[in-house]
Amino acid sequence: MNCVRLFLVINCLWLGSSASDPDDDPLLVELPQGKLRGRDNGNYFSYESIPYAQSPTGDLRFEAPEPYKQKWLDTFDATQSPVACLQWDQFTQGDNKLAGEEDCLTVSIYKPKNSSRISYPVVAHIHGGAFMFGGAAQNGHENVMRKGKFILVKISYRLGPLGYISTGDADLPGNYGLKDQRLALQWIKQNIASFGGEPENILLVGHSAGGASVHLQLLREDFSQLARAAISFSGNALDPWVVQSGARGRAFELGRIVGCGLAEDSATLKKCLKSKTASEIVTAVRSFLIFSYVPFAPFGVVVEPADAPEAFLTQDPSEVIKSGKFGQVPWAVTYVTEDGGYNAALLLDDWNNSGKTLLEQLNDRWFDWAPYLLFYRDSKKTIEEMDDYSRKIRQEYVGNQRFTDDSYWKFQQMFTDILFKNSTQDSLDLHRKYGKSPAYAFVYDNPADRGIAQFLTKRRDIHFGTVHGDDYFLIFENVVRHVQLRPDEERISKNFINMLADFAVSDKGTLTFGDCVFQDNVGSDNFKLLSITREGCENKEYAEFP
Ligand SMILES: *[C@@H]1O[C@H](CO)[C@@H](O)[C@H](O)[C@H]1NC(C)=O
Ligand SMILES: *[C@@H]1O[C@H](CO)[C@@H](O)[C@H](O)[C@H]1NC(C)=O
Ligand SMILES: *[C@@H]1O[C@H](CO)[C@@H](O)[C@H](O)[C@H]1NC(C)=O
Repeated sequence: MNCVRLFLVINCLWLGSSASDPDDDPLLVELPQGKLRGRDNGNYFSYESIPYAQSPTGDLRFEAPEPYKQKWLDTFDATQSPVACLQWDQFTQGDNKLAGEEDCLTVSIYKPKNSSRISYPVVAHIHGGAFMFGGAAQNGHENVMRKGKFILVKISYRLGPLGYISTGDADLPGNYGLKDQRLALQWIKQNIASFGGEPENILLVGHSAGGASVHLQLLREDFSQLARAAISFSGNALDPWVVQSGARGRAFELGRIVGCGLAEDSATLKKCLKSKTASEIVTAVRSFLIFSYVPFAPFGVVVEPADAPEAFLTQDPSEVIKSGKFGQVPWAVTYVTEDGGYNAALLLDDWNNSGKTLLEQLNDRWFDWAPYLLFYRDSKKTIEEMDDYSRKIRQEYVGNQRFTDDSYWKFQQMFTDILFKNSTQDSLDLHRKYGKSPAYAFVYDNPADRGIAQFLTKRRDIHFGTVHGDDYFLIFENVVRHVQLRPDEERISKNFINMLADFAVSDKGTLTFGDCVFQDNVGSDNFKLLSITREGCENKEYAEFP
């Protein structure tokens, strides 16, 4: 339409609404900032890469995100798949692991097609990737859309140094990525009705660093205004790689690496870092890795000082739980029996082609590497304390054996316990003591034929068991997991998807998987875990996690 004169404009609007009512076109959605157009994908609609924040670039780099305020004069094109936030990506092959873009704060919405339904519950999704890498596109939605039970919203948030650099003071407080997630959740609450989503029925889910993010969002007291339930898959706020100390030293070190010299204070450092390109800043991550992608989270969540503007987290998560001041909505936390296989498997690689796997090299370098592999580098006060701990855990898990393919299983158990399982138990323990709304948990034991450990190592001769993502990627498919599902996995996948759909609308906060109803841990003496295996599901009670 080309209406220039006023009387014609009025005429055209009238014609427009009678000839093709925008209400009739499911691809056109009206938001406060204007209209957007999504895509028809056959069995579902998508509305991708919708900005929820101002671009976090220029002056807005290293600042809390600002709500999106541009107006669209033309119809916004919501058919572009989401770009990943700029990152040093473990899964990009070769020396140059730079991927993504700095301008990346968007949500992407996927809506099933079903003409007999006017609205859907909503599942908001936070991707994993150690707070360092990954993106909204890394988890697929085809599987979920085929089942047609809910609207899915994938959130992009800042990663690595751009998302988490912190000098521990009000100048550069950190946690920008978590603040992004929170703003995205507010956006979803306010706008999802325009897409046919039910703003009262929002479930937040995430895996790994996404699971930890979900937990951290829930630890905000007003979380119940943003979602009615949450699930943290294989990642929670107490995992040792989530909240780390020592961030200030790393911030200034990064400054030196990118040519800011010895910045005299945080404000000077921040100013200098803002003058550098985002690529320079993110490429500096390589200098924080001692080999391969170790430590896997050199930049991550911090406890901010109380005077930080728009602080997200000002107390250690365990203190927040003990205070009882967090979002009182039903929450589930989960683990798989060998979660740590993701990180341990990396050591099976002959990374520098010396003819020796990293695991063999570890025999000589245990005291140097273990604190980075298992994230106690900055939590021990002295070198002696650190070495004592290294000695103790080696003895506890592998005894006097050398690290070889034969002792790999025990080595992997150490990773599972320290990086995932023990802190999941600790979290559930605090929630059962101090929480008021249901706290659920499941353990999944059903190895994928090919999961992330096989993907990383290309080894078929080692038994890894049930590794990180073997459950989650049955819901949101991922390239690291074999896409061809077995019949038992098809059944589990269906149960998981129903579990999410039902949890998002449950009035009483009940969580069910197949025929099993999860038991609440709040106030309980024993841990109540739902065990999910190839055979089915079963409620079990334990004094300690199995
Ligand atoms: C469409 O929605 C109705 C009502 O919720 C449901 O009974 C039906 O199974 C759905 N159809 C498909 C194909 O998902
Ligand atoms: C790489 O190989 C050399 C000798 O070939 C060895 O000294 C070194 O420790 C190896 N590992 C790493 C991680 O650099
Ligand atoms: C993890 O938990 C188990 C069981 O509670 C315990 O035996 C083990 O020592 C813990 N591991 C570490 C490293 O604390």
